[in-house]
Amino acid sequence: PLPRPFTTTLPVPGVARPADGDTAYALTQQAAQVEIIPGTRTEVWGYDGTFPGPTFDVRSGRPITVAITNKLPVPTATHLHGGVTPPQSDGYPTHLVVSEKHAAHFAPGSHLDHGRLTTGRFVHEYPLDQPAATLWYHDHRMDFTGPQVYRGLAGMFVVRDDVDDALPLPKGDKDIPLLICDRAFEADGSFRYPSADPTLLGRPGVEGPYHQGVEGDVILVNGAPWPELDVEATRYRFRLLNASNARRYELRLDPPPPDGSPFTQIGSDAGLLAAPQGLDRVPLAGAERSDVVIDFGAYPIGTRITLVNSLDTGTAGRVMRFHVARRGTEDSRVPARLADVQPLTPAQAVRRRRFDFRLSGPGEHGSRWTINGRPFDPARALATPRLGSTELWTFTSDFHHPVHVHLGHFQVHRRNGRPPSLADAGWKDTVDVRPYEVVEVLVRFTGYRGRYVLHCHNLEHEDMAMMANFDVV
Ligand code: C2O
Ligand code: CU
Repeated sequence: PLPRPFTTTLPVPGVARPADGDTAYALTQQAAQVEIIPGTRTEVWGYDGTFPGPTFDVRSGRPITVAITNKLPVPTATHLHGGVTPPQSDGYPTHLVVSEKHAAHFAPGSHLDHGRLTTGRFVHEYPLDQPAATLWYHDHRMDFTGPQVYRGLAGMFVVRDDVDDALPLPKGDKDIPLLICDRAFEADGSFRYPSADPTLLGRPGVEGPYHQGVEGDVILVNGAPWPELDVEATRYRFRLLNASNARRYELRLDPPPPDGSPFTQIGSDAGLLAAPQGLDRVPLAGAERSDVVIDFGAYPIGTRITLVNSLDTGTAGRVMRFHVARRGTEDSRVPARLADVQPLTPAQAVRRRRFDFRLSGPGEHGSRWTINGRPFDPARALATPRLGSTELWTFTSDFHHPVHVHLGHFQVHRRNGRPPSLADAGWKDTVDVRPYEVVEVLVRFTGYRGRYVLHCHNLEHEDMAMMANFDVV
């Protein structure tokens, strides 16, 4: 039986502490038994055995290292999503780490060896030369990202800077990350994921009806099913992340406040907006973030407000609930100006490129998700943008594909020839490309030269090869 909604308290993941008290972090990927559905145990694969993993709380311009030790029976690759990260630390899908214990199975030359293989532990360097933003980290292993993230390999990563700190926005325990995902459970409490090969060592992907992506009927926020949060009647800042494998959301408040917008959006994927904007609903495709302020001062004390998902009419139609438990001292506000966001213009674009996301086939294993007609080939790059340049990339699709570009942040220029929607505002690293849409983005390549990927962030599509390399030159 499914748990009753709003009977658990919203957990807030612990903050990652540097092992050396300074800038060197260390996490261990390991299995653990946790209670998600009351009265049952679920085996998760988590960073430090927790799901979600610890939240990073770090500063722009202050480089850190993150050593990841793998104690799981499968290889892993860890990606900082939205990070401006050198290629060797970006969690390229075939840059794998295997546990000491299982290293023998993955010896060079075996069918599982297809890239850089490190035994035991890998130290990632994150320069964090980027503005304040809500990023996240998750597994990115070639062909098996979907099942490995589903088992729990994901966490939040908050970058702060002086610009953001100086704003009078809600702070401290009124600045809360909400990692939203869906899961399905077996009767014994274990996660139900329909892998073609449940050992995650053989054939990748999922079959038949799951080809479009795996959705669950239980919504978890910070790892808890439909939780409730007691709030004061003041403003709160919520860093919303859709960490689901395939599910898309359109978040609304029920009831909406008597007047004013339910949500004041202040940031998107890669940082603050130039100015806040009121939203009635927050659409979130896979991997997208929206940084929003909700003012519970607009509601009478005692009100219970449901965060609903208007894209689902079943159990996934509710996400969590807020309970306006008491009065509070309001010491925050949302200023009219937030940050300097230089709008990119097509005149700055030195190249135009097109990436078509669609199902092609039938091939050897039936049809496949492809970009420009090809499944992922680690040996080939589809584009070679220059470091420091801006390009105009056009994404087209046959289905819902949340398109994510590593390294390069972008601004949505046009959707179907028209100006982008409100929810496309700001610096982005993932854009929802809906069926048969044409989405143009202006991407700026800063940071590092080297090989990176762009891919569909529907993780089942990604695992079925909807990914491509680009080389920053
Ligand atoms: Cu969030 Cu390439 O991934
Ligand atoms: Cu897709």
